[in-house]
Amino acid sequence: MTETITPLIAGNWKMHGTRAALAEIDNLISLVLAGGTHQAEVAVCPPMTLLAEASARLNPAGIFTGGQNCHAQPGGPHTGDISAAMLADAGARFVIVGHSERRAAYGETDADVRAKALAAFGVGLVPIICVGENHADLHAGRAEAVVHRQLNGSVPDEAATEDFVVAYEPVWAIGTGVTPTSADIMQMHAAIRRALVSRFGERGSDVRILYGGSMRPANAAEILAIANVNGGLVGGASLLSRDFYAIISAV
Ligand code: PGA
Repeated sequence: MTETITPLIAGNWKMHGTRAALAEIDNLISLVLAGGTHQAEVAVCPPMTLLAEASARLNPAGIFTGGQNCHAQPGGPHTGDISAAMLADAGARFVIVGHSERRAAYGETDADVRAKALAAFGVGLVPIICVGENHADLHAGRAEAVVHRQLNGSVPDEAATEDFVVAYEPVWAIGTGVTPTSADIMQMHAAIRRALVSRFGERGSDVRILYGGSMRPANAAEILAIANVNGGLVGGASLLSRDFYAIISAV
């Protein structure tokens, strides 16, 4: 059951970082080599331009890498897009799909997210499928209903036999410094667990459910200790290796 799940701490660099940021990658490697990963799997999802170089440095040190998005198709006339196979070829093990910033800015639907997760399965990548209610949903008392609908629509049936990760990221907590209470996180993660078990049976009890949204060194230990929180998806605090490693150390 959940005690045997290996936690995952994944950094989402978003659109931050030029080659100068490779120094942070090297710092992170030094910290991990000196202090270990505290039983956690660690992944960095840098911008595409850094993915291959970051993978070449991080993967030999036992740190995974990931993309922040992929196209649902394996190739074709999609100017500016990146396929799941391209991410895998650049060294990625994970790909974030359905991040709320993409749902909001590019109108990505649950069906789009599901198609991207399927594309990830097709090339052996592990999708980190993001769900989470926005401010209006929260205040209308429909947070669980929204997350339930996103989960149903975004996680493909094929996930029954594939490795995947769910990230619960309340939109109102992302980049704001505000987090839900521990009781609220516990309640939502329990609801997500129930939904996964009811859909996928025993398999659903092994799926990692990450919390994301203003996770930082000061609150990581408390959040990571909550039942059914199997790691974190970390934005702002993943950009500095010192802060990111402090969160890894809180596992
Ligand atoms: P944040 O971002 O940690 O900066 O709030 C999390 C995310 O968007 O994945």
